[in-house]
Amino acid sequence: MLPITKQQWTLKARPQGIPDRSEVDIETRTIDHVPDEHLLIECLYFSMDPAIRGWMSDVPNYLPPIPIGDSVRSSVVGKVLQSEADGFAAGDLVVGTGGWETHGVVPAAYFAVIPADSPFPTHYYLSALGAVGLTPYFGLLRAGKAAAGQTLLMSAAAGAVGSIGGQIGKILGLRVVGIAGSDEKCQWVTDELGFDGCINYKTCGDMETAIRDACPEGVDLFFDNVGGEILDAALMNLNKDANIVFCGSISNYNATEPVPGPYNWWQVLARSVTVQGYLISDYLSEFPEGQAQISEWINAGQLKFKEHIVDGFENTLDAYNLLFEGKNDGKLMVKV
Ligand SMILES: NC(=O)c1ccc[n+]([C@@H]2O[C@H](COP(=O)([O-])OP(=O)(O)OC[C@H]3O[C@@H](n4cnc5c(N)ncnc54)[C@H](OP(=O)(O)O)[C@@H]3O)[C@@H](O)[C@H]2O)c1
Repeated sequence: MLPITKQQWTLKARPQGIPDRSEVDIETRTIDHVPDEHLLIECLYFSMDPAIRGWMSDVPNYLPPIPIGDSVRSSVVGKVLQSEADGFAAGDLVVGTGGWETHGVVPAAYFAVIPADSPFPTHYYLSALGAVGLTPYFGLLRAGKAAAGQTLLMSAAAGAVGSIGGQIGKILGLRVVGIAGSDEKCQWVTDELGFDGCINYKTCGDMETAIRDACPEGVDLFFDNVGGEILDAALMNLNKDANIVFCGSISNYNATEPVPGPYNWWQVLARSVTVQGYLISDYLSEFPEGQAQISEWINAGQLKFKEHIVDGFENTLDAYNLLFEGKNDGKLMVKV
């Protein structure tokens, strides 16, 4: 089988703002060896995650920066072509941390086999049965200590994580208010997904007032995917002993200048708020529990989600940047 010629999206320079082809571009490489404890995989789907933008920068993060010259790091679904590790065989479908590349040699430790009898399409393991479902599941239940009767405020509410998170909030008995970037998105989360309200942050005027109107009894749990002005406005609407799940800060990921604020940080003290920095990878050992519950909710018709799958390896970077314009319609993936 080897050598194999592969194509990869190489990180050529640290992006300034939204990444472009001078910073991330397609290169051809040869694979001629698969070391012990590694797999040779053919990549089938890439997950387009906002977090990848952080790994492209040389700043402290929960994973090291992607080295210049390497393929862009990404969650992928792939097919094993050659296994040099116990527990994996040629032909297995697998999910884990690989790269934006047609083929990869990846550490087996970063991958799991997708059950051959799974009733779900493989790309669900990058969406509802992957980080997209598991992030709000553990974020709400564990980090956020969600409890029935509370008011949950969810930013990026029509996005992959936010839309599933809001529905989980409803299943758990919370009152759920979303924040999203268009009337269509707001209508989808209220009319289709059952959120109790949604604020269009682009047209609502003063955010602080808009949240107060939508959450007259205050916010008990703020699940923040966005940061910036939305976080500041939310801080002014929190109840005493509220929880913030700090899940993401997408408004800052492409910043080219230092990001100030949050200006209303004092409210954390004034209202005895708990801010939980939250990483889904901290719950790795509990993924089977989360996947089982989410499968049950999907099968029962209690969880709806959209997947936005862009066709073609060569379209990966353009697809990725849709995230930062709010132009993704559900969980964004590339079919290689
Ligand atoms: N902590 C963890 O373990 C973990 C795991 C997975 C994801 N996350 C985080 O979860 C968040 C959502 O990720 P996702 O994969 O589900 O993406 P997503 O929500 O499907 O897509 C990103 C959305 O963010 C919104 N957005 C983009 N730029 C914005 C800005 N400047 N201000 C306000 N909203 C903006 C856009 O929606 P609008 O049209 O509504 O603006 C866009 O559609 C990200 O912050 C990500 O980093 C964290």
